[in-house]
Amino acid sequence: MERFYVTTPIYYVNDVPHLGHAYTTIVADALARFHRMRGHDTRFLTGTDEHGQKIERAAEERKMSPQAFVDELSQRFREAWPPLECEPDDFIRTTEPRHVKVVQELWEKCRANGAIYEGTYEGLYCVGCEAFYTEKELEQTPQGLCCPIHKTPVEKLKEQSYFFKLSAFQDRLLEFYERNPGFVSPESRKNEVISFVKSGLQDLSISRASFKWGIKVPGDPKHVMYVWFDALTNYLSALGEPNDPLRRYWPCDVHLVGKDILRFHAIYWPAFLMGAGYGDAELPRKVFAHGWMTINGQKMSKSLRNVVEPIKLAKAFTPDVVRFYLLREVAFGQDGDFNHSQLVARYNAELADSLGNLLNRTLGLCTKLRANSPLDAKSARGDLEAKLEDAAKLALQQTTLAWDEIAPHKAIEATWVLIRAANKYVDEAAPWAEAKKGDAGKARVDVILATALETLRWISTLIWPVMPEVSAKIRAQLGIGRIEPVQGENALALQWEPRSDTSGLAVGTPIFPKIDADRQAAIWAELGMNEIEKPEAPKPEAKETKPAEGGKKPKVMAEPAAEITYDEFARMDLRIGQVLSCERVPKSDKLLKCMIDLGEGQPRQVVAGIGKAFAPEDLVGKQVVVVANLKPAKLMGLESRGMILAASGEGENDLALLAPGKTRNVGTRVK
Ligand code: MSP
Repeated sequence: MERFYVTTPIYYVNDVPHLGHAYTTIVADALARFHRMRGHDTRFLTGTDEHGQKIERAAEERKMSPQAFVDELSQRFREAWPPLECEPDDFIRTTEPRHVKVVQELWEKCRANGAIYEGTYEGLYCVGCEAFYTEKELEQTPQGLCCPIHKTPVEKLKEQSYFFKLSAFQDRLLEFYERNPGFVSPESRKNEVISFVKSGLQDLSISRASFKWGIKVPGDPKHVMYVWFDALTNYLSALGEPNDPLRRYWPCDVHLVGKDILRFHAIYWPAFLMGAGYGDAELPRKVFAHGWMTINGQKMSKSLRNVVEPIKLAKAFTPDVVRFYLLREVAFGQDGDFNHSQLVARYNAELADSLGNLLNRTLGLCTKLRANSPLDAKSARGDLEAKLEDAAKLALQQTTLAWDEIAPHKAIEATWVLIRAANKYVDEAAPWAEAKKGDAGKARVDVILATALETLRWISTLIWPVMPEVSAKIRAQLGIGRIEPVQGENALALQWEPRSDTSGLAVGTPIFPKIDADRQAAIWAELGMNEIEKPEAPKPEAKETKPAEGGKKPKVMAEPAAEITYDEFARMDLRIGQVLSCERVPKSDKLLKCMIDLGEGQPRQVVAGIGKAFAPEDLVGKQVVVVANLKPAKLMGLESRGMILAASGEGENDLALLAPGKTRNVGTRVK
């Protein structure tokens, strides 16, 4: 049976669980669920990193013993995950005896193999990172040399230390990367790692004698181990000792990490294992580095963290919606932004209007047109049904492929292509019109309803890794059981079998009630959104007409255009569209190729010259105003059907997109 083992970093116990931690944990959970539902023997590990000088100092400040301090803090992380529907199989703490034992064994193996030796260390150390830096990696500031991440001065350390012979593993690491091209993802990060290793690896000081809160070095208890030697080993120690049945999960399939800790995972960790005598086949299979999250465009500061506290968000929006948004919004591997308004826009457009609408209208039609009586699911099947069946099979294939390449955003998009196709199918097949034909239309009505219900069954399966509770609710309304993964059984081996039995259908309350302005205001208040610093209000200089002080020229307003009649204006078809995907046009720094949903069934391709002001990821998911009846044109060989409206500012880099003040249905006319 296939096995799958996924890990998150173990989080520093003295931090509070925040959105950055939640993001990695949710991705890990969704990935584990995907493998579980395929019947794989799956393990998902998270935990807390509890040693080090930082913790020792913080405990001292609280006048607590370090152990009591970490016992209290670790609990916050343990309790953070169930409210987000994250179900790790194990939660490891680096202060547990099971961990300490395995770390000491690993150390002893490295020592026996000559990979650890004694020496004196002199260097610059950042306690925040628990890492040594070379001078050129640091920032020169008036307070002295500062850590590039924490912006705080580094400390000069000189002490007796044990060293890990990292330099001896340089060639072997490079060969390992060469033979295992999938070891570091994404590709751009892999190149970073390789060039770092090629630039020359220095031996690593891996013990400290100036503080006590750590795992003791075997045979030399004055020394405690370098926290990263200790912490990285959690991935192994959580599987017990070598004879433990849990060791079947080793080597780990994927370590999910933030880009800031990639070096530790992609260089140090395999080198430590090599030092302990592990062969290439026993090294982790992949380290996937994701980007960093900002909040409403700003770096995560203490005050901002409060409004995105994972548990608060889950309460305000439900855990499934938070999971959906995070996985959908951020292309896994890239930096991303958590934006509250964007979350609401996606919720309304993709959950309420798209998935929710498909469910509600299908069940509503079953009741209205057929009073939930059994359906003749086959005899009047036509081309439209065949097309939807193909779309479902394609979505299944692409969603699976996307999860296999750890691209949750692509998995969700592949499923949403099917949801949009299903809504379009119901529009085109128009069962209400068939019903008007009386007996002559009955067979068609039956086949349409059965096909839509079957598509919903498939969708409820495909979304399970991301939204397990929503999946269960949809299935309850369809009268089928929730997804309960069974080892060895592939719940994704779906067969297309429209059913005649409608006895279990149960129209419930809508799963995704629209978030209107009132509800949004209530959520904002609940989250304390009104208390966070607002971005500075724009200065009113655009309206200024008298010469500004300091000889600056006043802003020149554009010449007013010639008057037009209302009829002339009405010839313009302005519509609300939602950007589904967006990418740069190769060889152009200005053009973006956007696929925009205007509610027409098929998205439109619009090539917009706004690429200097926006990155593609700024646009995806946004609602925009589109000139829908603009004559098609070709730009750099690409057809463009429409134009996105934006207001200009200081130049090509400064544009403001026009967007509705409230989320609107796609295709809504702007007048
Ligand atoms: N304890 C170490 C990891 C040891 S693993 C053997 C550590 N802990 S951490 O709590 O500081 O960070 C854990 C993870 O959270 C890292 O992957 C880091 O990238 C991630 N994040 C912290 N802030 C983040 C964002 N703002 N956005 C996304 N992830 C971020 O490092």
